Amino acid sequence: MNRPRHIAIIMDGNGRWAQQRGWKRIKGHEKGAEVVRHITTYCANHPEIEVLTLYAFSTENWKRPKMEVEFLMKLLDNWLQKELPTYQKENVRFEVIGDISRFNKALQERIAYTKEMTKNNTKLTQVLALNYGGRDEIVRACRRACASGEEISEESFEKFMDSQLGDVDMLIRTGGEKRISNFLLWRIAYAELFFTDTLWPDFTPAELAELIEEFRSRHRRFGGI
Ligand code: FPP
Repeated sequence: MNRPRHIAIIMDGNGRWAQQRGWKRIKGHEKGAEVVRHITTYCANHPEIEVLTLYAFSTENWKRPKMEVEFLMKLLDNWLQKELPTYQKENVRFEVIGDISRFNKALQERIAYTKEMTKNNTKLTQVLALNYGGRDEIVRACRRACASGEEISEESFEKFMDSQLGDVDMLIRTGGEKRISNFLLWRIAYAELFFTDTLWPDFTPAELAELIEEFRSRHRRFGGI
């Protein structure tokens, strides 16, 4: 039976969800952040899920209007502050992949603090991909690997990545588009892909549970027969 050890989600559709209601796009991001909490809590209480990786800000998202980028940064900062009790209560370790050196100092410190405070939590690792691009992560890993002077193999390469998370089992994209958008390229080599039309602010633990059921019934061959 397939086990959903590592679930990764491209959380798409916040802007459209808000616009459908005649609201500003940022309202969709606010609602989206609440959904992050519900889905994280569900995963933390699921006996088989160990890692939940969420695409929160891509290397391409800097192209958005300055006001939306600033809002997302502020939302993340406030959210990390507010959610720390949830991480502790649900026994969730917080981790980040991506190059956060471009974020302001206060946000970088908040991220470091949240990582430090949750580092001994064991039920789930929640990974936020921040200023993240799959190609960028591979290039940065190659630089570290070259600098180490070590012989590189497929198995040893992961240790040069931003974080050692293991392969993705399920990759889910909400919001109707059928693209990978430069997410986790190295780790999705054998991931099962799921695309749902549900916009991220409407995504629920019940829908995730349905996708996990579908995942269980898929035949994963990993290149074999
Ligand atoms: C994509 O929707 C979503 C993002 C680029 C940001 C994801 C952010 C959140 C879910 C909220 C903040 C998260 C945390 C952890 C605090 P979109 O804006 O591209 O939607 P659209 O395709 O409808 O325009």
